[in-house]
Amino acid sequence: MKNYTSINDIEHLDDWIQEAKEIKRNPLSNNHLGKNKTLGMLFFNSSLRTRLSTQKAALNLGMNPIVMNVSGDAWGIEFGDGTIMNGTTAEHIKEAAQVVSQYCDIIAVRAFPTLTDKELDESEQVLKSFVQFASVPIVSMESATGHPLQALTDAITISENATKKRPKVVLSWAPHVKALPHAVANSFVQAMQKMDVEFVIANPEGYNLNSEITKNTPIYNNQEQAFKDADFVYTKNWSSYNEYGKILNTDPNWMITKEKIGDAKFMHCLPVRRNVVVEDAVLDSDSSLVIEQANNRTFAAQIVLKKILENN
Ligand code: CP
Repeated sequence: MKNYTSINDIEHLDDWIQEAKEIKRNPLSNNHLGKNKTLGMLFFNSSLRTRLSTQKAALNLGMNPIVMNVSGDAWGIEFGDGTIMNGTTAEHIKEAAQVVSQYCDIIAVRAFPTLTDKELDESEQVLKSFVQFASVPIVSMESATGHPLQALTDAITISENATKKRPKVVLSWAPHVKALPHAVANSFVQAMQKMDVEFVIANPEGYNLNSEITKNTPIYNNQEQAFKDADFVYTKNWSSYNEYGKILNTDPNWMITKEKIGDAKFMHCLPVRRNVVVEDAVLDSDSSLVIEQANNRTFAAQIVLKKILENN
């Protein structure tokens, strides 16, 4: 594996989960692997967990992480081919990616979608431009359509907390005040399709994710039916995919409550808006795995960086 830009870059997810658990037990066991290697982390968007856990993972491997908020601090980057650059962008990705490649052994990139231009977002222009023009491996720290570090984290967390061989996992939409990307939900769907779980999705009408990703996963428009016998309820808001980027529904009845999830474990990638997406009684209970998920971000990032260091 050269790059990690999709959960589908992992050939044997179960093996990676087992190895991530070993790394979690002994996080410094490979702390010479990254000696004298630099991880460059480029953020076009905000982050708390991804930024800190990926740095922590790099440090555990003996790497030197360097971080840049591209949107705030760097020159505006142009991605268009043949553009006459007489506007706001001052530097082309062709130079920028090659320049950063000289300073770094691996480049990690976070670049969210526009949610206004579906074709542009689905082209993954920013991430794919780094893959095309950089001379070192690229890791996605969340792109327009996927969040593979989060999905690997979630797979590890479900494996650790499953109390039966084939647990039932539900991905449920919940309301939100802002239009949010599909990236977390997309990658979670892809991860669950690779695991031995009973997996269903619950979302209101008009909120079906890209059918090329959901494939034959059952989709319910009724949360109560979907939650029946659930072991894990993974919650995330996303904006409409068909009416791209629009908010079609703000029905508070889709908020996750203790009564609804019963004995199921609650999962969310964070950050989460309390009492909009999920009520306090869930987040403040033993049912919630959100802090454990955030902890596992380090070990998901660490196994990804380890594999890339070993293979390159
Ligand atoms: N879950 C996640 O990616 O968190 P951040 O946006 O804070 O990095």
